[in-house]
Amino acid sequence: MRRALAVLASAALIATAGAASAAAAPPSDHRPPGLAKKDTLAWAAGDVLKIGSAVAGGGHHLSQDYPDPFTGDAAYRDLLGREFTSLSAENQMKWDAIHPAPDTYDFAAPDAIAAFARANGQDVRGHTLLWHNQNPSWLTEGDHTPDELRAILRDHIQTVVGRYAGTIQQWDVANEVFDDSGNLRTQDNIWIRELGPGIIADAFRWAHEADPDALLFFNDYNVEGVNAKSDAYYALVQDLLADGVPVHGFAAQGHLSIRYGFPGDLAQNLQRFADLGLATALTEVDVRMDLPDGATPTEAQLTQQADYYQRMLEGCLAVDGCDSFTVWGLPDTYSWVPHTFPGEGAATVLWEDLTRKPAYLALQDTLAEASGRAGHPALRG
Ligand code: G3I
Repeated sequence: MRRALAVLASAALIATAGAASAAAAPPSDHRPPGLAKKDTLAWAAGDVLKIGSAVAGGGHHLSQDYPDPFTGDAAYRDLLGREFTSLSAENQMKWDAIHPAPDTYDFAAPDAIAAFARANGQDVRGHTLLWHNQNPSWLTEGDHTPDELRAILRDHIQTVVGRYAGTIQQWDVANEVFDDSGNLRTQDNIWIRELGPGIIADAFRWAHEADPDALLFFNDYNVEGVNAKSDAYYALVQDLLADGVPVHGFAAQGHLSIRYGFPGDLAQNLQRFADLGLATALTEVDVRMDLPDGATPTEAQLTQQADYYQRMLEGCLAVDGCDSFTVWGLPDTYSWVPHTFPGEGAATVLWEDLTRKPAYLALQDTLAEASGRAGHPALRG
């Protein structure tokens, strides 16, 4: 185990009163010299790992009754700059957003994220290059020969990865290529269906050509523990590495629900990929709960949520090379969960008014413990 982790007192997980007062830091204290900057996830993490967030925008936000979060919500933007050392594009780099027409790339939103990250000294995770979802209709409904499709994918990967070479440190090259039974998505993934499974290796090769320094990942949900789906990745990665394909990382997204048990073999699962020489990461962490008829989360739900967040972080910290842990957005206002799972929600670590939940405090305390900053008076001092 790379870092000694102290077990947190359960009291920290239910410190809702502390959460409210800690959240009193004014949202305008961007990169301040004083205590507020230190009372963050970024400061607590130090150099132990990259602590990241999705940058909310596009996707389900387009049908919501608020402005684009990243460009229209100053307090949110400020929080992203202050709390995190890594950013992921929630929707802004997906095919339908960045390549809306055959000869048109739209880099405005991704460029803005890249510039923001640069100004704040943050890493960027690129998401995503080969996926069955959020592809533009010109692609999915187009009449392309296999050779044309291959050329389209190659151009896309080389153009997008090349543009952000040196700015994006990790790319989710292939996203969700297996179903939950561990079968390759040979029907709903256009690339695999039309070009065969070998296109996955080509995608990694083209991305590597475009940016030899970027770490290239597989990324999926329901692969936190050892199961049929993660076994399928384990087998595929071994084959690709044996063929010399530049695969560098395996990422578990980390979309959990307290309705289900916690995948207690998370560290064991990540470790087997680390043993193949891969980097690992948790890339889209959130923990939803059942809230029928608009119910408010109970203390017990919040405690269990905090426990799941903490255990996911501890699982990552326990594995050499698990160097980034990203939450899939915040606050709850911007979460994808209620849109996709009606009757469920409250999945992020911040309430809608940006105040902190027990889950936030659990992450912060776990990071501080790992970095040696626990107990520092600047941390929630
Ligand atoms: O394409 C339809 C469009 O035809 C329709 O007019 C519009 C009306 O709202 O909806 C459009 O689809 C939306 C899609 O984004 C594309 O814009 C969906 O409703 C909406 O649910 C979707 O949301 C995104 C989702 O990915 C799509 O899969 C979320 O914002 C985004 O947070 C989520 O992120 C994914 C990761 O990329 C991969 N891992 C899972 C994670 C959560 O689903």
